[in-house]
Amino acid sequence: MPHFLYQDGVLHAEGASLSAIADEFGTPTYVYSKATLLENFNAYQDACAERDALVCYAMKANSNLAVLDLLARQGAGFDIVSGGELLRVIAAGGDPGKTIFSGVGKTEAEMTLALEKGILCFNVESIPELHRLNAVAGKLGMRAPVSLRVNPNVDAKTHPYIATGLKANKFGVSFDEALDTYRAAAALPHLDVVGIDCHIGSQLLDDAPLLEALDKLIDLIDTLHAEGIHLHHLDIGGGIGVDYGVAGDAPPVPVGDYLGRLFARIDAWRAAKYDGQPLKVIFEPGRSIVAEAGVLLTRVEYLKPGAEKNFCIVDAAMNDMMRPTLYGAWMGLQAVTQRESEALMWDVVGPICESGDWLARERELALEPGDLLAMMTAGAYGMTMASNYNTRGRAAEVIVDGDTIHLVRRRETPVETFALETLIK
Ligand code: LLP
Repeated sequence: MPHFLYQDGVLHAEGASLSAIADEFGTPTYVYSKATLLENFNAYQDACAERDALVCYAMKANSNLAVLDLLARQGAGFDIVSGGELLRVIAAGGDPGKTIFSGVGKTEAEMTLALEKGILCFNVESIPELHRLNAVAGKLGMRAPVSLRVNPNVDAKTHPYIATGLKANKFGVSFDEALDTYRAAAALPHLDVVGIDCHIGSQLLDDAPLLEALDKLIDLIDTLHAEGIHLHHLDIGGGIGVDYGVAGDAPPVPVGDYLGRLFARIDAWRAAKYDGQPLKVIFEPGRSIVAEAGVLLTRVEYLKPGAEKNFCIVDAAMNDMMRPTLYGAWMGLQAVTQRESEALMWDVVGPICESGDWLARERELALEPGDLLAMMTAGAYGMTMASNYNTRGRAAEVIVDGDTIHLVRRRETPVETFALETLIK
């Protein structure tokens, strides 16, 4: 159910007016709907009901502590990619025992922290990483739980920057080398080989490539089983994509349909080959949980009509939301209060000194300076990718719950952006 709707002509997040939020907290501000967040998480959780499955929210999508806390309270596990993200999980009251650690470049310090905190599994991406983890675990007198990220060489048909499952990508162990890598892992004394994982890419609107990857993992699990390597879980990686409102894009497959098809395949395979003995399944969705739950609220500073283009200069910029300029991503824009006056074609840009600082191009909008705009579907990979470029403090973040507004990160001041710097004596 959408929770960003117009009420009395003003766009609301649940029961709170975005105009009132802008007045109280200023702009740019990320506004999240708690109900949307929980509904999206529960779409996964419900499809996993009664099963040995764990939804590990990929917190790189949005790692605000309040978001993590809300999800942890629903039973979420977490997919982390750094020691810093693990510290966030713990600070938010999440369970390290339900946390998996992905990423190609884990440092010794990060491995040590994760072992000491007792994470569920390391998703290992290379042979040198296996050896490093074995050594770190040995030093601590521990055994590290390990899954190998296998690269199934499946085309996810998404933007090249966020496609990760092809041979040409830096991620995972290639499918052809997977068996040998598992043998190597099983021979290391301080590792427990417990799982297999993959992640073929993000913003997949169709589940066919995911099911193709699943079939490849299933074959590999059978081969490993025959070799005496018995896995306890299968982790299929990130979730389904979301509807950004791009003209001509098919809507994403509903999460329940995708998980239904995935579990049907797994059940049929387990019934045929393992007497129906279940295998734990792990998911790492990020975007599909938080994207639709957030908007980026920004105010029009200046209108600059021109011979070739009309520019609408707003107070949010590429440092607040990188997706348009980095991926050429199309993000929806809605006027918080719609005007009756004539709409013109605008390029919506920020104040940063780069032509790449744009948020939306060629949008038909009726605007006046001071108007508020909401960039829709901005809850994922928005604030987490924000920077301080141009010494801009990062946006505030609020969560709306019904008609209650919680400030969950106050606006960063420009002075805070250089507080760690010192002059040479
Ligand atoms: N697991 C792994 C190992 C990942 O690398 C990712 C995302 C996920 C899970 C979560 O995937 P999701 O469910 O969100 O599709 N900044 C880009 C997206 C980068 C995705 C990186 N990996 C964007 O704004 O489109």
